[in-house]
Amino acid sequence: MNITFAKKALPKGGALALTVFDGSALGPLGESLNKRTKGVLKEAMKAAEFTGKKGQSVEIIAARGTSIDRIILFGLGKPADLTPNGAQTLGGRFVNANIGKTKVVSLAVDLPKGVAMNEADVAANLAFGASLGAYRFNKYHTKLKANEKPKLNKVTMLVDDLVEARAAWKPLHHLSDGVILARDLVNEPANVLNPKDFAARCKALGDLGVKVKVLGEKQMGELGMGSLMGVSRGSANEAQLIIMEWMNGPKDEKPVAIVGKGLTFDSGGISLKPGAGMEDMKGDMGGAAAVTGLMSVLAARDAKVNVVGVVAAVENMPDADAQRPGDIVTAMSGHTIEVINTDAEGRLVLADAMYYTATQYKPKKMVDLATLTGAIVIALGHDQAGLFTNSDMMAEELLAASKASGEGLWQMPLNDVHRKNVKSKFADLRNSTGRDAGSSCAAAFLEPFSNKVAWAHLDIAGTAFAAPHNPMCRSWGAGYGVRLLNQWLTDTVEEK
Ligand code: BES
Ligand code: MN
Ligand code: ZN
Repeated sequence: MNITFAKKALPKGGALALTVFDGSALGPLGESLNKRTKGVLKEAMKAAEFTGKKGQSVEIIAARGTSIDRIILFGLGKPADLTPNGAQTLGGRFVNANIGKTKVVSLAVDLPKGVAMNEADVAANLAFGASLGAYRFNKYHTKLKANEKPKLNKVTMLVDDLVEARAAWKPLHHLSDGVILARDLVNEPANVLNPKDFAARCKALGDLGVKVKVLGEKQMGELGMGSLMGVSRGSANEAQLIIMEWMNGPKDEKPVAIVGKGLTFDSGGISLKPGAGMEDMKGDMGGAAAVTGLMSVLAARDAKVNVVGVVAAVENMPDADAQRPGDIVTAMSGHTIEVINTDAEGRLVLADAMYYTATQYKPKKMVDLATLTGAIVIALGHDQAGLFTNSDMMAEELLAASKASGEGLWQMPLNDVHRKNVKSKFADLRNSTGRDAGSSCAAAFLEPFSNKVAWAHLDIAGTAFAAPHNPMCRSWGAGYGVRLLNQWLTDTVEEK
């Protein structure tokens, strides 16, 4: 989506969005158009029983006396609803209204007046919602009908101060690009995005100044990553540990580390998953996608932070050489692990990726993101990820960032019952524990591999993909986590 800003001037052709608060009158632009059309706007509002309630809209086509193809009135609800997140949702509504299905290619937006936010922030947040809301992943549809392929490709915010509006948009533009990068990665099928393909996409961030290093299986073997490599054994695609450094903060400051589960496909391995829905497991790299999207945002907006992003890209397949239930592997940390279920592979991969990151970088804080358990989807559904942490401070920070960014997060327990449950009869740990508290036990399994670094685990199995559509996301892959962690870094570690 091409976002532009213009001084208040009426567009010629295209569509115009007018915004109306609940029970309030048209703004100056609406009034003047109503006059010019001899009352058409108000007649339409009345006929449609439009009062400005949140979610209401009326579309007026080819209003005589104007050069505008479509005028759309959007109900905003109460002025207090127009927070930054509220403005983002509204921007998403603009591009997903009926005009999205028409031939209209451009939309001008008359901004709401009389709100607490300044005009530049309203415009920038609307633009952010519009660009995310307009995102589609249709590159593999070769025969889309015209009405299935949105034509709208330009949104113009009508503002007083162009300089201020463009400055407010800049960081949000980079953030939107990062979310879109993450969505693209999640949506891409596993035959197009195997671990090496993933590494190639990460290497492209070199153009932004991110330092990218990739370890193959030979190097991982030398480091003793038996847990990660056990998962990869059944796959013809070599695993890759991708390390992205963005060290743009104070020289002597320890980095923050973000680690992502990157199962480019999770068949379950020998503990093969049932067929129904298995295709969704191309999205089992949602954590890795968020890490990649986040690193691109930090570099694009030149964030003054030291952050290392680590992606463990692996494919879990059944094969004559695949690992078996009952196998015992040794992780880089020295822990032995009994593989009860080869489908509980995410924790096996993260064990080595997290321990490598903790020991190599000694980060001051570490966050991992992983589509780790089906149980978290049962517990929290699709709008909140599960938060597990050994640090009360990180819990507080991340929950605050969730509120500010609008990406849902809910803290879940991690205690000695769960820690006891991951002990194995034959080895130090077992990777599967039965049905009770499945997400907490998965977190308890990961904990030792954080090597006592302040650590938080985000189980994003419900939020990374297949969430119900909303105005800002009409895509299967959600790009969850990029906004949350960008907010968290901005509020907690970034030099102002
Ligand atoms: N990738 C899955 C978890 C998942 C399920 C993500 C649904 C997204 C949607 C993970 O590797 C897995 O298979 N977990 C098992 C663990 C069990 C065998 C202990 C699960 O949740 O069933
Ligand atoms: Mn699995
Ligand atoms: Zn998995």
